Amino acid sequence: MYSAIRSFDNSSVLQNVSLTELGGDIKRTLQNLNISFENTDWDLYEQRSRQLAVARRILGADLAEGEFGQDFMRGVQTIGSLLENSSFTEENYNEILAIRPRRKRAIADFHLRKSGVASQPWTIDRLMNQSFKQAQSRFFPGERKFAAMSEWATATSEFCGLLQLIARRVAQIDSSIQQLAMTCHQVTLLAEPGDTGDGSPEGIHQDGADFIVPALVVLRENTAGGVSRLYQRVDGIFTTLNEETLMPGYGWLHPDRGTDFWHDVSSIVSADGTHACLRRSLGFDVNIVRT
Ligand SMILES: [Fe+2]
Repeated sequence: MYSAIRSFDNSSVLQNVSLTELGGDIKRTLQNLNISFENTDWDLYEQRSRQLAVARRILGADLAEGEFGQDFMRGVQTIGSLLENSSFTEENYNEILAIRPRRKRAIADFHLRKSGVASQPWTIDRLMNQSFKQAQSRFFPGERKFAAMSEWATATSEFCGLLQLIARRVAQIDSSIQQLAMTCHQVTLLAEPGDTGDGSPEGIHQDGADFIVPALVVLRENTAGGVSRLYQRVDGIFTTLNEETLMPGYGWLHPDRGTDFWHDVSSIVSADGTHACLRRSLGFDVNIVRT
């Protein structure tokens, strides 16, 4: 049974989710979940947002908020257009061009419906829709499009078992739930020695779903940092309710949209300082579908 973290009013907020609950050999489960990460595309939004942040520091103007910034984030404006700004020195050019992508990402949407069948309590339908909008995000306003997770990756018994597990947990919170809409975010963070990889460059945030699994970690390789944190916001002040360096096989589940609960994750860095590091995780947005 899971342990629960409690908020100030003593209500249960956070549940631990563990792949050990799926039964079987956890090492094998992790291996099978990891295979699908190997050909994921770069998340260019994350790279572009850091390029804009450097431009903002140099120019003293928040390009991200204007039309150019929006077009740049969507890839309509290129890095060439950004660098045309005559205020940039050669050093500035080099600094912006040195910003390489360091996050990989793919997504998949699902519709789950209670089946009443004991062996598979939820029927799972994959929806082919790759656009994603993070509600309430000033950092990534607008819709972002990501590559789709491969169809075989989301059809494995391990992955479907994880969807069933998360659905069961959410339905335990509210037994009237019959249908769920879920989005999975398959995320790889990478960092070269001396650099960082950021899982939440937007800082403390909400994802905008009824419930979330911010990250069920499936791999940490030569990685320090990556500490998951849950906060309660009261009168605009964030207080840490829990923090944990989640190891492969483990994640959190907690309510998100419309609550006082916010989250972030600290940057990852190379543990040995000489080799690159990476952290792979599956995140889930879970929305209750009321008919
Ligand atoms: Fe998040």
